[in-house]
Amino acid sequence: MNPLKHVAIIMDGNGRWGIKYKNSRNAGHKAGLNTVEKIIKESIEQKIQYLTLYAFSTENWRRPKEEIKFLFNLLENFLINKINDLHKQNIKLKIIGGKKFSKKLNNLLNKAEKKTCTNNKLQINLALNYGSKTEILNAVKKLIKNKETINEKNLNKNMQTKNIPDPDILIRTGNTKRLSNFLLWQIAYSEIFFEKKLWPAFNKNDFRKIIKKYKKIKRNFGSI
Ligand code: FPP
Repeated sequence: MNPLKHVAIIMDGNGRWGIKYKNSRNAGHKAGLNTVEKIIKESIEQKIQYLTLYAFSTENWRRPKEEIKFLFNLLENFLINKINDLHKQNIKLKIIGGKKFSKKLNNLLNKAEKKTCTNNKLQINLALNYGSKTEILNAVKKLIKNKETINEKNLNKNMQTKNIPDPDILIRTGNTKRLSNFLLWQIAYSEIFFEKKLWPAFNKNDFRKIIKKYKKIKRNFGSI
């Protein structure tokens, strides 16, 4: 049975779910947040140590202003209402990407990271304004600036995911098979699961099924 430390998720399909069932993309994002809460709970149940969630990519800035505003409002309210809960559950919140948001959201994110920084049951890496190519380029620039040898170990050290083991599993919901600039360096040997269901419809049983499948896979990391 494969050990499972780190699950990364591309939570795709909120918009389509919202249009289909509520005639509103934003209603899909709201429902998507409920799925986030369910999957956090199940991750603890499954003793997963790292859960990386792709919440907003560098490319998502191309969306209509109203939708972006709604998403950030949702995140603000989530932080305001849920951070104490997360903290009580010994969950650590870390932001990967760039904190290029409103002063209010930046403050909330900083406060949440600071409050939970010594927690160690589950680490949630929230990818916000995240793009993998930018992350890799920035790491290479830092290596050059600090005159460090360019090798795998040093590159890892300069990534935003430093000290975090690579994802064992990458899940993408929403019936689309692409990686959308997410953790391209880190998923070199991850087991990838493309899930037909839209993110708001994804549930703990779907998550459990994926974990069960993953545990039985023969992972040889290039050997035989
Ligand atoms: C992709 O679905 C989803 C997003 C860009 C946002 C993810 C946000 C959430 C799951 C809820 C908020 C989370 C937090 C932590 C506050 P899409 O809109 O691209 O769906 P589509 O492919 O159907 O258009």
